[in-house]
Amino acid sequence: MRLLVLGGTHFLGRHVVDAARAAGHDVATLTRGVSGEPPDGVRAFHADRDDPLPAEVLAWAPELVVDTSCQTRAAAEHATALDPAGYAFVSSLNAYRGWPPGPLRGEDEPTWDTDDDEYGPVKAHAERVLGGALRDRFLTARAGLVVGPFDPLHRLGWWLDRIAAGGPVVVPDALDQPIALVDARDLAGWLVQVCGQRSGAVNATGPAGMTTLGGLLDTCREVTGGDAEWVVVPEADLLAAGVQPWQHLPLWLPADVARTAWDVDTGRARELGLPSRPVRDSVADTWVWMQTHPRPEPPPGRTLPGLPADLEETLLRT
Ligand SMILES: NC(=O)c1ccc[n+]([C@@H]2O[C@H](COP(=O)([O-])OP(=O)(O)OC[C@H]3O[C@@H](n4cnc5c(N)ncnc54)[C@H](OP(=O)(O)O)[C@@H]3O)[C@@H](O)[C@H]2O)c1
Repeated sequence: MRLLVLGGTHFLGRHVVDAARAAGHDVATLTRGVSGEPPDGVRAFHADRDDPLPAEVLAWAPELVVDTSCQTRAAAEHATALDPAGYAFVSSLNAYRGWPPGPLRGEDEPTWDTDDDEYGPVKAHAERVLGGALRDRFLTARAGLVVGPFDPLHRLGWWLDRIAAGGPVVVPDALDQPIALVDARDLAGWLVQVCGQRSGAVNATGPAGMTTLGGLLDTCREVTGGDAEWVVVPEADLLAAGVQPWQHLPLWLPADVARTAWDVDTGRARELGLPSRPVRDSVADTWVWMQTHPRPEPPPGRTLPGLPADLEETLLRT
């Protein structure tokens, strides 16, 4: 079928393009052409998503649309103009009004209903307008933590770099904290598979408790080799020193938030066949990618995560 990826040249979208080609679809992307171009054999349309769709996109008449782009202002207008048989949208758990901190018992929990120009409300707004326009042709994948090769947010990547550098590594005293993640390649393949076949909302992340923070860091050490040693710092000391959860120590949340934030019911995702490859494969493949590609540029307006050197020194001294 003709499958249009709205996005498709950066991270998740790039894997959607690969998965759609592997599934035998005729694939096109729609981007501004700033983040790069899709591989040979993929039609590249260019436009800003806030502008009307180019006539050649409408003329190509995609039958399926996978929307990984964060640009959602004109989403409903475009969806109506394209009128596809299936539309899969990449949303986020942040679309839920109560997450974080959660927990999320299923997909019926309330989503944001405000017009705020913030990540969660924007995703929820897009879901509402797209769902209104497309009805049972619309699936929204509320993604959790996405990892894998080409990840520009460099969260797992920072840990891999730091652990590979070896020596004493500051880690929070939350190593038994359960965490869940979804490999971008699993999510991408599944989006292609369910687009046009299934509808509604799906919490699209790994099963709760699939690993722990400590398990993930141990896997990073195994994969990178080296002599990294954990220097376990109590949460109160990290916070007192000014360590920002998630930003300075990626994937770490304070215990009171973590208890519920990682508690996400993904039963529907499992029923609909969203795979969850072994964490080791995601870690190892991300590390291979990092050895063969330059470190990513942070997306506009964002800083790459990581523990500032002065903070690390202070924490290791105490
Ligand atoms: N990473 C996570 O942990 C996480 C968690 C939950 C949800 N998500 C969601 O997952 C999705 C992942 O995105 P991704 O970056 O991996 O997708 P992607 O499709 O690989 O990259 C984003 C694409 O959007 C295009 N784009 C950006 N601004 C545009 C504009 N104004 N008009 C047209 N195209 C535009 C970019 O190309 P150009 O720059 O060339 O235009 C690029 O191709 C996002 O929707 C994000 O909210 C991520």
